[in-house]
Amino acid sequence: MADIILHDMNELLDMKRACRLAGDVLRYIEQFVVEGVSTGDLDQLCHEYITEHGAISATRNYNGFPGSICTSVNHVICHGIPGPYKLKKGDIINIDVTVALDGWHGDTSKTFLVGKCSKLAETLVKAAEKALFVGIEAVKPFGHFGDIGVAIQKFVAQTGFSIVQDYCGHGIGKEFHADPLVLHYDCREKREQILPGMFFTIEPMLNVGSCKTKVLNDGWTVVTVDKSLSAQFEHTIAVTEDSVEILTL
Ligand code: MF3
Ligand code: CO
Ligand code: CO
Repeated sequence: MADIILHDMNELLDMKRACRLAGDVLRYIEQFVVEGVSTGDLDQLCHEYITEHGAISATRNYNGFPGSICTSVNHVICHGIPGPYKLKKGDIINIDVTVALDGWHGDTSKTFLVGKCSKLAETLVKAAEKALFVGIEAVKPFGHFGDIGVAIQKFVAQTGFSIVQDYCGHGIGKEFHADPLVLHYDCREKREQILPGMFFTIEPMLNVGSCKTKVLNDGWTVVTVDKSLSAQFEHTIAVTEDSVEILTL
């Protein structure tokens, strides 16, 4: 946990290209997220888009993960495997895209509403997006990583939703998952300093009910233990001497 990589300006330029492409994939796929489309179809479309733009999916074959994206529907928190499931009206689906472009990684995710959803689903998805931006606003050059979780927890407490603690944000760059762990809840020991040149993700997962998680027998799919709805948003962030940039916007 001690070694958080500091990147230079040229590396930031390379990183920006990878992250912009990851954001483009989410914008591209949005039009296809409708009733009746399968998560496997969405995977195929993203896969083609990513390869046509000279990149590769970083999730495909990552520790054996079979998808080019993660598709996490309703009570699936994260790492859902794309397949034959067809989206229904009222579903919510998180699509998590990680691309590698010229060796640099861009990681971003968004939760989409499929047609008209329940008020509860709408409120949860809005809160998850807000939690991400509250976390981003807590990032300050020469501040501390712990500030992020403190801010997110303070916001989420007012919503009545719970924050998943078993999965977190991460350093990123030439590696997909690097130090540090970026926690989305208040953990007093997180005193690592945020320094110019650091690249990392923030990706809070909010549940309607319990924050407890369980991994299904496929070895990947993470679900809420009480089957309550879960939503997530993620951006990749870069810190410079005087600014905080959202690279996957
Ligand atoms: N993109 C996820 C993250 O935000 C990780 C997915 S790993 C996979 O860190 F293997 F499940 F794809
Ligand atoms: Co991530
Ligand atoms: Co991700």
